[in-house]
Amino acid sequence: MGTGVATPLKWYFWKWFNSLCWPGNRRCGFLLPFYGASPHHHLRGGAGPLVELECIVIELKNVFYTYPGSDRFVLRGIDAKVECGEFIAVIGPNGSGKSTLARLMSGLLLPARGQVLIDGLDTGTPEAREEIRRRVGLVLQNPDNQLVAVQVEEDVAFGPGNLNLPPAEIRRRVDESLEAVNLSGLRARPPHLLSGGEKQRLAIAGILALRPRYLVLDEPTSMLDPLGRREVLRVLRNLAQSGISVILITHLMEEAALSDRVWVLADGGLAANDSPGAVFSRPGMLRELGLGLPFSAELACSVAAPGVDVPTGIVTMEDLVCFLCSVLKQTS
Ligand SMILES: Nc1ncnc2c1ncn2[C@@H]1O[C@H](COP(=O)(O)OP(=O)(O)O)[C@@H](O)[C@H]1O
Ligand SMILES: [Mg+2]
Repeated sequence: MGTGVATPLKWYFWKWFNSLCWPGNRRCGFLLPFYGASPHHHLRGGAGPLVELECIVIELKNVFYTYPGSDRFVLRGIDAKVECGEFIAVIGPNGSGKSTLARLMSGLLLPARGQVLIDGLDTGTPEAREEIRRRVGLVLQNPDNQLVAVQVEEDVAFGPGNLNLPPAEIRRRVDESLEAVNLSGLRARPPHLLSGGEKQRLAIAGILALRPRYLVLDEPTSMLDPLGRREVLRVLRNLAQSGISVILITHLMEEAALSDRVWVLADGGLAANDSPGAVFSRPGMLRELGLGLPFSAELACSVAAPGVDVPTGIVTMEDLVCFLCSVLKQTS
C-alpha cells in the first residue's frame, strides 16, 4: 500500500522537478538522474546514476581534422558547445566541413587534435565509443539509404531488435517513436509508398527508438519538397522541446532561422556562433561566404527607405509580419 501511494507521488515530484529544467530553462545545474531528465523521458534511457548535470552536453574543444592522405586541415581549432535541448543550425558554403563536423560529433571520425566530448565522454576513448554511438543519432540526407524493412513499424523495430530487447519493450519504443514523428497512422505501410518527408520522419523514428540524447542531422531536408521540409522541421522543434539536443546541418537559411543558435562554418573555423537574429544581421559576412539571408530578412531589407528603419533580427515570417504592421501604422 505504502509503495502504491509513494510511487505516483515520487513520479509527480520528478515530473515537477524535471520540468524546472526542460525546456527553456537552459542553465540547469541541478542534481538530476543522468537519464530521464526530460518530462518526455520516454524518449530517453532508463533511470541511471545521479550525477551533477551541467547543461552543456556536447563540447568541441579546439578540434582539428584532416582526412587521411591529405595535409590540409578541413577543420581548424573549432571550439563550440551544445546545451541540453538546444536546437543548433550549422550553415556554411559547400566544402566548409559541415558533414565532417557531423561525423566528428557522432563519433564516426576522430579529431586529429583537440577533443569532442559527449556528456564528458571523449570520442577518442575506445571504451566510450559504443555508449557515444548510442547517445548520438545521425540522420543523413537520403532517407532511402536509411530504411531497411518492408513495413514502417518493422523499420522502427529494427534498431531496438538488434539490442535484443524484450518484445514488449520493442513495441513500446516503436509506438513512442512513431508517435513522436507523427507517423502512427502509417505503421503498416511499406516505406517505399511514403512521401519523402514521411520517409525522413521514419528514418528519425528509427533513430529515436534507440533512445539517443542527441540528434545530428546532415541536410535531412535537402531532398524534400516544401511540405516534407516543414513536417520534418516541426518534428525537430518538438524533439528539441522534449529535451533532445538537435544539431541540424542545412543550406536553407529559413531552416536556420528557426533554430536557437546558428554556427557558421567557413574556412575551417566558426565564422559566427550566435542567435539567428544576430547572425542574419550580418548580411555582408554571409554574402562574402556565398550564403544568403532568410526570405523574411531579405524582404525586410528591401523595405528600407528614408524614414523607415529596419530593425535587426527579423528572421522569421512572424518577425516580418510584426515589422510590416508597424511600418503600415507609421505610414498611415
Ligand atoms: N573522405 C574524404 N577524403 C578526403 N577529403 C574529403 C573527404 N570527405 C570530404 N573531404 C573534403 O573535406 C572538405 C569538407 O567536406 P565536407 O565536410 O563534406 O563539407 P560540407 O559538408 O560543408 O560540404 C571538402 O574539401 C571535401 O573535399
Ligand atoms: Mg555536406
